[in-house]
Amino acid sequence: MKEKFYITTPIYYPSGNWHLGHCYTTVICDAIARFKRMDGFDVFFLTGTDEHGVKIEKRAAENNTTPKAFVDALVGNIKELWKTLGISYDKFIRTTDDYHVEAVQKIFKKLYDNGDIYKAEYEGMYCTPCESFWTESQLVDGKCPDCGRPVEKAKEESYFFRLSKYQDNLIELYQNNPEFISPKSRMNEMINNFIKPGLQDLCVSRTSFKWGIPVSFDDKHVIYVWIDALTNYITALGYEGKDDSLFKKYWPADLHMVGKEIVRFHTIIWPAILMALGVELPKKVYGHGWLLIGGDKMSKSKGNVVDPFVLSERYGVDAVRYFLLREVPFGSDGVYTNEALLNRTNADLANDLGNLVSRTTAMITQYFGGIIPDGSYREEIDNELVSLCEEALEKVRRDVDNLLIPESLAEIFKLIQRANKYIDETTPWILAKDESKKQRLGTVLYNLAETIRISAVLLSPFMPDTAQRIFDDLQLGKLPDSFDSVKTFGLLESGKPVVKGKALFPRIDVKKELVELEKLAEKHEKKQEKPAESNEEKGLVSIDDFSKIELATAKVLTCEKVEKSDKLLKLTLDVGGKQRTVVSGIAQYYTPEYMAGKTVVIVKNLKPVKLKGILSEGMILCASNGKDVVFVSPEKEIESGSGVN
Ligand code: MSP
Repeated sequence: MKEKFYITTPIYYPSGNWHLGHCYTTVICDAIARFKRMDGFDVFFLTGTDEHGVKIEKRAAENNTTPKAFVDALVGNIKELWKTLGISYDKFIRTTDDYHVEAVQKIFKKLYDNGDIYKAEYEGMYCTPCESFWTESQLVDGKCPDCGRPVEKAKEESYFFRLSKYQDNLIELYQNNPEFISPKSRMNEMINNFIKPGLQDLCVSRTSFKWGIPVSFDDKHVIYVWIDALTNYITALGYEGKDDSLFKKYWPADLHMVGKEIVRFHTIIWPAILMALGVELPKKVYGHGWLLIGGDKMSKSKGNVVDPFVLSERYGVDAVRYFLLREVPFGSDGVYTNEALLNRTNADLANDLGNLVSRTTAMITQYFGGIIPDGSYREEIDNELVSLCEEALEKVRRDVDNLLIPESLAEIFKLIQRANKYIDETTPWILAKDESKKQRLGTVLYNLAETIRISAVLLSPFMPDTAQRIFDDLQLGKLPDSFDSVKTFGLLESGKPVVKGKALFPRIDVKKELVELEKLAEKHEKKQEKPAESNEEKGLVSIDDFSKIELATAKVLTCEKVEKSDKLLKLTLDVGGKQRTVVSGIAQYYTPEYMAGKTVVIVKNLKPVKLKGILSEGMILCASNGKDVVFVSPEKEIESGSGVN
C-alpha cells in the first residue's frame, strides 16, 4: 500500500487583488505535492479560503452586498488563479462551507465541555468607528492599525481558550520533535519570543460583529479567527463530520506550509487546540520567507508588474512557477523585480533548457531525418552524463524531502547544463562530416535526447506544461505519473520520430521588455489609483446614499387642477396624521375626482419648491414607459405615513 502524504497551504483571506507573493506558498506546495505523487505517495493536497471576520463584513457593506455574496465572488477569482498556475489541489475548503461550520461548532462545544474554553471578560483597546478590538502590540503609534484613529480601553464578554495550560506540553513537543518547526531558526523565535515570556489564554469569540460561526450554545457570540481557521485542516478531512474516512486515512498532516508571519499560530495555538481535543499533532510546520516586492511583503514598487495573471500570459505559467520556486532561497526572504524574472527566464529557461531541446531535435532532424538514432555506440566520455542522469532522482528527492526547493531545481539543471557541455565536447557537427562516425554521432544524439527525457520527467512536478511540451517534441505521449522511468538511462526507444517544436522559451530582449513592463505597471497603477468606488461612473449609488431618501405612503385628501396649467394637479395629502401639499404633473393622466381618496407613495424629504406659486412639499412616485404614467400605490391598504424601503 502507498504511504500517505498530507500537505496543506494556509487558507487565504479572500481578496480581489492577487499579486505574485500570494502565489508563493501555493506554488511551492503544488510542486511538492506533484513530486510526492510521482514518487509513489498517496498525496492529499488541501487549500482553501478563510472567509469570516469583521473586515469582510465591512467590505461587503461598503460594496452594498452581503458578506456571503462578497466572498463568493472573490473565491471564484482565487480558483481561477490556481487554475491558471496549474495548482493540483485535491480539495478546496471554504470556511463558509456547511460541513466546516457544523464541525467547528462541535469542536468549540467539545472544548467548552472539557473546560478548555471558558467565559470571561476580554479587555482590549477598542476602535469605535471600526468596531474592532486590538491588543496593545497591534496598535500603530497607539492608534487603530486600520484607520489610524484613537482607541480606548473597553471590555467585552468573551470565550477564552486555556492556551496557558499547554505551555509545558508545547516545550516538550519541540524538544521531542526538533523537526516540528522548520527552519530551526523559527523554533528558537517561538520559544524565546512567545513561550518563555509565558502564554496568555486566547480570546476565541466576539460579540461586536456577526460575520462568523455562531457559538452553538450562546449565539450572541461568533467564533473568532483561529478556532475557525486552523481547524480547516481537520474538518476538510471530515473530522466531526458525516464521513471521517479521509481524516482516518490522511491525518496527521505531514506538512503545513505557511508564511513566516503565521508560524506562531500554527506551532503554538494549533498544537494546543489539538492537544485539548486529543487529536494527533501534525508532523511538521514549515515557515517560509516572503517574496518582497518593492521592499516589503505586499506593496507594489513602481514599475514592477506583480499581477500573476499578466505575467503568466506574457512569459508562460512555467516561467512564473520557475521563478517562485528557484529564485528565493527557501526559508529566507527574496526580492521580486521584473529584471530578476526576465534574467532568470532567459538564462535558465531560454538558454539552458530551451537551447538544449531545440539544438538536439534540430540535429536529429538534420542528420537522422527526425528519427531517434541507435544509442549503443557509447564511449568513455558518455559515462559522466549517464551516471549524472541515473543519480539525479535520488539527489532531487533528498532536496525535496529536506524542503530545499531551489536546490532541487538546481540539481535538475545540472543535468541540463552538463548536456549542453556534452554537445561542446562531442561536437556533433564535426562528427557529421565524417561518414565513418555516423554511428557515434547517432549515440551522441541519442544520449542527448535521453538526458532531455529524464530531465523532463524530473521537471514535471515543478513545470508541468514545459515538461509535457518536451514530451510532445520527443513524441512520447503523456508524461508518466511516476519516476520509475528515470532510474535507468537508455529507456528511450530508438527508431521513433521527434519533431522540432516551437522554442520552449523564446529569448526576451530584457531592455525592451523592461520598458514595456514599466508602461504596463503604470497603466495598472493608474487603474488602481482611480477612486476606489467607481460606482458613480457606473451610475450606482451606495445603500447609504439610497437610505437618505425617505419614502412614505400618503392618503389623498383633496385634489384640484392648478390654474393656468394643463399638467399640474394640487393634492392635499395626509402623511401619518400630518397634512402637506404636493403639486404633481399628472393632470394629463388622472382627474382630480379619481385621485381623491387614493393612497400614493411620496418622497417625503424632498426640498420644497414653488410651482405656479404653490409650495410643493414632496413628490408623488409614478411609473412611466414614456407614453403612459401611472402612480405607484401599495398593494394592500396600509396606514398613511408608512415608510417605503
Ligand atoms: N488566513 C490566514 C491563514 C490562516 S491558516 C489557518 C492568512 N491568509 S493570507 O491570505 O494573508 O496569506 C496566505 C499565505 O500567503 C500565507 O502563507 C502568507 O505568508 C502568504 N503570502 C502573502 N504574501 C506573501 C508574500 N509577499 N510572500 C510570500 N508569501 C506571502 O494568513
